[in-house]
Amino acid sequence: MTCLSYECSHCCVGSDVALLILPRRHQTAEKEKDTIMTSFTGAIVLVTGANGGIGAHFVRESLARGAAKVYATARTPREWDDERVVPLALDVTDAESIRAAAEAAPDVTILINNAGVSASSPGILTHSDEEIRRNVETNFLGPLFLTRAFAPILAAKGGSTAIIDIHSALAWYAVAGIYSATKAALWSATNSLRLELQPAGVQVVGVHVGYVDTAMAAHATDPKLDTAELVSTVIDATEAGEFEVLADDTSVRAKAGLSAPLEAVYPQLAARG
Ligand SMILES: NC(=O)c1ccc[n+]([C@@H]2O[C@H](COP(=O)([O-])OP(=O)(O)OC[C@H]3O[C@@H](n4cnc5c(N)ncnc54)[C@H](OP(=O)(O)O)[C@@H]3O)[C@@H](O)[C@H]2O)c1
Repeated sequence: MTCLSYECSHCCVGSDVALLILPRRHQTAEKEKDTIMTSFTGAIVLVTGANGGIGAHFVRESLARGAAKVYATARTPREWDDERVVPLALDVTDAESIRAAAEAAPDVTILINNAGVSASSPGILTHSDEEIRRNVETNFLGPLFLTRAFAPILAAKGGSTAIIDIHSALAWYAVAGIYSATKAALWSATNSLRLELQPAGVQVVGVHVGYVDTAMAAHATDPKLDTAELVSTVIDATEAGEFEVLADDTSVRAKAGLSAPLEAVYPQLAARG
């Protein structure tokens, strides 16, 4: 890392650790220099969980933003009345299914890890073993192994490539049991992948959002973000070269809570004081 200002007293660190302590204005300057921005115009997009609420919107909005082709993947692919959509079978928990998808879609430039499952109850002590495994395999190992399968494909393109990982505000607010844990794990993996893929020019975007108006949040009575608004925000951010999307106030508050005392984030801890 090079020193960007005579005002800076930190740049002598001379390693990536400097990113942790550099004043924000210097980080911004670094970002302007190295920003990877991925356009959806002409892109070839692969969406996991494409039959679902957010996934289906990613298919449609990618095309509206100029994507040349979208692989709409699902365990049981549906028909799409658009010749630019290629339905493709993909179970993200199945290694052979992942291998076959990477073989069938070697032209992908944007991978959207959207497929996910929720837990039926919030108690991490009371989930069944099967439910814990299903959440870990679908929400964490699935996108990780799929990304490992597609990383060489994306890296070989030499730029204008991206991976978009759909996390959740619940990655930063541990009230949803194993679901929160898997989303926190995915968030961490996304951060590692971003660093490892940056030299190859692959942009890695992590998305955090509270409730979205889909089948997954059908039980919730709290306000929900419109699916189309979320997808539009994510695509705008990707095209602007952002690394992370905080799509609603819930996510902004959850991220701020990471640096707050635990009793402020979880008042029930203070109550037992
Ligand atoms: N809705 C919310 O409030 C909310 C908030 C924050 C984050 N998210 C995240 O957003 C993503 C999309 O969720 P959604 O709200 O659109 O829910 P959804 O309507 O339930 O869609 C989830 C999709 O994931 C697919 N899926 C599940 N297991 C799979 C597997 N093993 N392989 C491939 N696909 C699989 C489902 O396919 P099938 O049709 O085959 O079951 C479904 O199409 C998830 O990662 C979720 O955690 C949702």
